[in-house]
Amino acid sequence: MPVTQAREIVPATRLENVRYAIRDLACIADEVARQGHKILPLNIGDPLNFDFKTPAHMIEAVYQAMRDGKNGYSPSSGIAPALDAIRGEAVRKGIANIQDVFVTSGVSETVDICLTALLNPGDNVLTPCPDYPLYSAVLAKIEIGLNTYYLNEEDGWQPDLDDIKKKITPRTRGIVLINPNNPTGSVCTRKMLEQIAELARRHNLIIFADEIYDKLIMDDDPHIAMAAVAPDVPVITFGGLSKNYLAPGWRIGWGIASGEAPVIKPYLEGVNKLLRARLCANHPEQYAIKAALEGPQDHLVEVKRKLRSRRDLTMKWCAETSRVSCVAPRGAFYAYPRIDIPEGDDVFVTELIRQKYVTVVHGSGFGQRPGTKHFRIVFLPDEKTLTAAYSIIGDFLRERYA
Ligand SMILES: Cc1ncc(COP(=O)(O)O)c(C=O)c1O
Repeated sequence: MPVTQAREIVPATRLENVRYAIRDLACIADEVARQGHKILPLNIGDPLNFDFKTPAHMIEAVYQAMRDGKNGYSPSSGIAPALDAIRGEAVRKGIANIQDVFVTSGVSETVDICLTALLNPGDNVLTPCPDYPLYSAVLAKIEIGLNTYYLNEEDGWQPDLDDIKKKITPRTRGIVLINPNNPTGSVCTRKMLEQIAELARRHNLIIFADEIYDKLIMDDDPHIAMAAVAPDVPVITFGGLSKNYLAPGWRIGWGIASGEAPVIKPYLEGVNKLLRARLCANHPEQYAIKAALEGPQDHLVEVKRKLRSRRDLTMKWCAETSRVSCVAPRGAFYAYPRIDIPEGDDVFVTELIRQKYVTVVHGSGFGQRPGTKHFRIVFLPDEKTLTAAYSIIGDFLRERYA
């Protein structure tokens, strides 16, 4: 008689809190697509799904690296030319007191390593609400309870400083700041950065400054790096090739550690231990980092022109559509309209996919103030596609909530 296993193999209970609304919705969209409907995807922030292309000189650099046999493991922190280029970029961002730089498999891995290296059971880190859901997923994985601070819709989605002050506990070790923000598209003011830095000083916090969209500011004002306004505060600045350089599939991200050496060095030893344990980031793709950061930046002009036009079209639709209002995004490629509807935004979004084949993400998937409802639009598609999608969403709102 062959032996068969009787009991199910079940996942760890801590995964019950791991959610990633953006990709979870894709399952419903796949089901609708299998029924033969063409989906209009406004849910995944991948520019390569639309009319954006990875710059050719970056592709050439990776191809050359592969032909040159750079196909083995790399040093755990990353290859020297990439680390030099990231340091150069940090200086251009105005970051002083640089203590370390390291390359990871996307900012996703930087987030995982930086949070895992910091937190003991019972500690917490402040994360924004609404939030890019990777942060809460990683925290759930390492069994750290959420401690979220609100972004203030009435204040252009700037962090709510009073809420941050209220939420700091003796076990708070750090604060995550996503700037430009996903999902709201807001960009922090210098004054806000200075006030958050002051709180970090006072409460001995490390700041995780996720600046993966820092070159995608649609209007002409410059992006201000958190670490540049607070050279004395421990900051890890996150950046990468996925968004600014249109290469999300290469999985290349990095961290720039700054602050006073004696304060941040012990933590960086922990980070480097985890970097060594996972061997290295993708090796040939690291050769694109120098090419990207030091090569021509022409693509950014075209990318920002498209984003401005698509943002403006989105805002016009929001202004003209009843039940919808939206703070204008200034960076990244997301808009986060508020909707006034008599049911949950998750129901709205699910029915929109099932009935009209348009995919957006519900606000409750990112977290939001109780009583408010939102949805996130990725406005990367061309104007024709966006116009069609907005007309369909408008019809749906009218038909469902007339
Ligand atoms: C704010 C933010 N951080 C990090 C990431 C992950 O980026 P990567 O592709 O470098 O892992 C994303 C992706 O959408 C993001 O929006």
